[in-house]
Amino acid sequence: MPILQPDTVYQLLRNITSPVVAITSERDGKRNGMISDSAVRASIAPTVPRLSVYIHKFNFSHDLIFETGRFVLHLLRDDQFELIHRLGFASGRASDKLAGVPHRLGELGVPVLDDCYAHFECRVVNVMDVGSSTCFLGDVVAVGYGAARGPQGAVMTAAYFRAHMPATWRAQYERLLEAAQAYAAERARDIRPVIWRGLERS
Ligand SMILES: Cc1cc2nc3c(=O)[nH]c(=O)nc-3n(C[C@H](O)[C@H](O)[C@H](O)COP(=O)(O)O)c2cc1C
Repeated sequence: MPILQPDTVYQLLRNITSPVVAITSERDGKRNGMISDSAVRASIAPTVPRLSVYIHKFNFSHDLIFETGRFVLHLLRDDQFELIHRLGFASGRASDKLAGVPHRLGELGVPVLDDCYAHFECRVVNVMDVGSSTCFLGDVVAVGYGAARGPQGAVMTAAYFRAHMPATWRAQYERLLEAAQAYAAERARDIRPVIWRGLERS
């Protein structure tokens, strides 16, 4: 087997990133949103719609989702750069990132963004500890299109975002990515067994 450099492996793995999605959460009236490109369909059964997503433990959203077992995942259109910048480049710990972003509370009491390609309201049914992050497995309990009420435009992919983000954002994007990579490298091997409390209760 050829030995590939870590950078080459990382570039190959980028082929396995997901579309760029916005993930919202809510706890005790505090509403938040973040960006991810690590979401995937987690069930092929149309009657059991499921998805999963990896969220770093240093993100505020991680705690909100872990503590409430609820989140909404939004597919975005490929013109929603500003929203990605707002939700994905700074933490919501100290600010209200959803202020000024039109939304309503969905069936689970979690913000549903008006402007998106489509959204999936999810209830967490299991989690996997990944050391530096948690993989949340969610049952999809409600679905809708954005305010246009039908699929509009194309879905934002991770590759499209990286290639077309405004040049003035790139240095900050690279800095944030490097910091997240350092965090992940330090904690990736510290995997702990975790039992999702929702399962314990059932
Ligand atoms: C294109 C893109 C993809 C991202 N993917 C992830 C991801 O898969 N998992 C993650 O935990 N953070 C990801 N992030 C970073 C979070 O969105 C970012 O840390 C955000 O500020 C977290 O906000 P919060 O602290 O309010 O939860 C991504 C950011 C961008 C711009």
